[in-house]
Amino acid sequence: MVNRLAPPAETITNGDGRVARATKPIHRSAVVWLTGLSASGKSTVARHVADELQSQGRRTYVLDGDELRSGLCSDLGFSLEDRAENVRRAAEVARVLFATDLTVLCTFISPLEVDRSAARSIVGGDDFLEVYVQTPLEECIARDPKGLYRRALSGEIPNFTGISSPYEAPLNPELVIDTSGQTLDACVRSVLELLDAHTSRP
Ligand code: ADX
Repeated sequence: MVNRLAPPAETITNGDGRVARATKPIHRSAVVWLTGLSASGKSTVARHVADELQSQGRRTYVLDGDELRSGLCSDLGFSLEDRAENVRRAAEVARVLFATDLTVLCTFISPLEVDRSAARSIVGGDDFLEVYVQTPLEECIARDPKGLYRRALSGEIPNFTGISSPYEAPLNPELVIDTSGQTLDACVRSVLELLDAHTSRP
């Protein structure tokens, strides 16, 4: 099951209560950070990647912007300052989950390069894989699954990313995908290949 934390199968508890690993994990875990506009397809891609990893026996967690904003980050809004704090908290949670050998798929608009760079530092650069979901704004507006773009364009929602608040494209992402120009399957495979390449790194 995705999004459920279970003790790692390879974890045992010492007599003194400390936790020790019986075996080394077969796969090197990672934090995959999907950034892109609202409705760009971040969550859909993340869920499909997580399903595939789970079916391979790789322990996975999807850390989602909407989910965090309904709880841990419910005190935050959408000013650039609040988004920076939102991204910082998300990266801290991702770091903790990653430390338990989970592969963590993070889906946050995270519109500013400086905040994503800070997230990379929090997690640790070697295991932070930034994926730019580059679906064009026009396509996101056409999709508008929650009706938010319509409300933002009419001025009802202020500070809306891509409309009245900036989105900075990543300068040096590990991967770029576009859910309008590629099939979902191709996007998912690209992320899985990125993770495979990461696993085989020394
Ligand atoms: S972030 O910018 O701080 O990274 P986050 O990914 O957590 O944003 O949340 C984005 C989600 O919040 C969007 O998918 C959308 O459902 C909702 N949302 C509500 N208001 C806004 C807004 N002003 N700008 C962008 N997204 C918004």
